[in-house]
Amino acid sequence: MKPLILVPFLLLSFIPLSSANDGAPFDYFMFTTIYPTAVCRADDDSVPDSCEIPTGTPLWTIHGLWPNYENGSYPQNCKGTPKHFDADMIKSIAGKMRTVWPNLFPGKSIQSFWKHEYEKHGTCAQSDELFDTELLYFTEVMKVYDSIDIATAMSSIGPSDKLITKNDVLTALTSVTGGNTFQFHCLKDKITKQFLLEAVRGPKTMFGIE
Ligand SMILES: *[C@@H]1O[C@H](CO)[C@@H](O)[C@H](O)[C@H]1NC(C)=O
Repeated sequence: MKPLILVPFLLLSFIPLSSANDGAPFDYFMFTTIYPTAVCRADDDSVPDSCEIPTGTPLWTIHGLWPNYENGSYPQNCKGTPKHFDADMIKSIAGKMRTVWPNLFPGKSIQSFWKHEYEKHGTCAQSDELFDTELLYFTEVMKVYDSIDIATAMSSIGPSDKLITKNDVLTALTSVTGGNTFQFHCLKDKITKQFLLEAVRGPKTMFGIE
């Protein structure tokens, strides 16, 4: 009798459950953060109040969590549930999101940043069941933010007006986060002509992906 009982289980495991058809296959997640101090320092000072760091904003904030391919490209604007960002679905976590995932540009709504990230990247994450819904996507991204302590890693080398090498940053990040795949993005301060570290992308995170 035993083989007969096993068969339905084996079949079931190959049938996609619920909305697992949405999203896109991908290889890994890239967690991306923003350093608001640099963003607003590099912002156009001729436009008053065009960039503002809300009171209570942490030193490093969330940009997003992006499904990526190993070949360097990434899926975007996938079939998701919902396909278009719905603010009502994340009411229960919007308070925390306002703090750790702020919009620095008062000319745009905070929701416009979340909408962009969800529609471009979040819809593509839904092939991973941990990220199956809009609420799960935003909830899980904040968990990643809580678990990868970029702020502590960076506190050992900055903020600094001296030149920081890529290797300095890499060493600091690797020692705290345990990851070793990072990308950096810099902005040029129009007045001082300095390059300011604006973003850290990484490490690669896998979650349910094999
Ligand atoms: C990268 O890999 C993905 C998934 O295999 C594929 O769909 C895409 O066309 C590839 N892109 C490039 C630029 O090779």
